[in-house]
Amino acid sequence: MDNFIFQNPTKLIFGRNQVEQLQKEVPQYGTRVLLVYGGGSIKRNGLYDTILEQLTHCGAEVFELAGVEPNPRLSTVQKGVEICKAENIEFILAVGGGSVLDCTKAIAAGAHYDGDAWDIVTRKHIPTSALPFGTVLTLAATGSEMNSGSVITNWETKEKYGWGSPHVYPKFSILDPVNTFSVPKDHTVYGVVDMMTHVFEQYFHPTSNTQLQERMCEAVLLTVIEAAPKLIEDLENFELRETILYSGTIALNGFLQMGARGDWASHNIEHSISAVYDIPHAGGLAIIYPQWLRHVKETGLRKLNQLAVRVWNVDPTDKTELEVAEEGIQKLEQFWQSLGAPSHLKDYSIDNTNIELMADKAMVNGPFGNFKKLSKEDVVEILTKSL
Ligand code: NZQ
Ligand code: ZN
Repeated sequence: MDNFIFQNPTKLIFGRNQVEQLQKEVPQYGTRVLLVYGGGSIKRNGLYDTILEQLTHCGAEVFELAGVEPNPRLSTVQKGVEICKAENIEFILAVGGGSVLDCTKAIAAGAHYDGDAWDIVTRKHIPTSALPFGTVLTLAATGSEMNSGSVITNWETKEKYGWGSPHVYPKFSILDPVNTFSVPKDHTVYGVVDMMTHVFEQYFHPTSNTQLQERMCEAVLLTVIEAAPKLIEDLENFELRETILYSGTIALNGFLQMGARGDWASHNIEHSISAVYDIPHAGGLAIIYPQWLRHVKETGLRKLNQLAVRVWNVDPTDKTELEVAEEGIQKLEQFWQSLGAPSHLKDYSIDNTNIELMADKAMVNGPFGNFKKLSKEDVVEILTKSL
């Protein structure tokens, strides 16, 4: 294992009706509250009214930033920062999916910075503090509810970057499976693909002696693989929503990556696709990830075989390691396709026109990937095979 220090300060508040905990949590931070949410799903499913009722009980004066986009944009972050500064906001409450949460993290850090919030995303400014914020999560996918990462898109320059800071862990996150009942089938599937890919990204690393970490990753994968097909046929099943919601958090709250640093190249490539085409993050991952696996098959033979046998039940008898690895990759593709996830860039009408551009964007900080370093040629090949 690599040496590590683990600390995750987010208070996780999980389960039915836990939104009532807002009354205990919010007053600790102040009364001037900015409520941040997306394009209206919380108004349609009634959560908005519940939240306002809770905040009123807290005696909060509520300001609002509505309309955070999927793949949240810098312009919306800037609007939020302006409100925080003009209205002396003391606390931000994010209600939504990963996009709303990520946008809130950038607003929270931006509110404590005199320059442009893009400096934070591009790491020109390293935050030394941020406004406190909490979240009410409505979509199981990113793990943003219990991590310090955020991904922001600059739509003018078509750039999408992840950044992080220990100052942007949510103070608390409230996860009630009922708040995810209204997530439509397609976004439920994207969430499943995203959380599975987070596990894979952390499974493939160059560090040895990580048996427990690998078993924990496999446990999350097996759980999601069992629950997801049932969930997409029964979207309001509390227990299935509960399982998937908890899996999404565990997949990216740091628990799985203690003692080893994952690869994350596929996420970098995907961010450059959605920066140019504004497609759902996990739609891109479902397309890219199997091709990344094929690209690193030889380097990753031991892990790929282990994954194929332990997670996909591939029988290795009389097969070469390469055959077992390929069968495991095919099982993954079949699984995602059976859920209805896309499998080729053409599913989003993306052709080879911008492959060079996307590869250049992915290469902005040079070769990347902690399990296998990718050059521009590698990225072009992965993208081309994904067409
Ligand atoms: O905007 P509203 O109206 O709320 O609709 C959203 C949006 O259209 C809808 N939705 C959310 N909760 C719902 C719901 N619809 C009905 N009922 C509900 N309960 O779902 C759509 C997608 O929401 P979004 O927040 O964009 O999805 P997700 O949670 O997948 O977040 C994606 C963003 O997170 C970034 C991605 O790059 C992308 O920008 N990521 C963030 C990470 C992190 N912070 O750690 C890691 C990830 O790898 C990822 O990169
Ligand atoms: Zn992701």
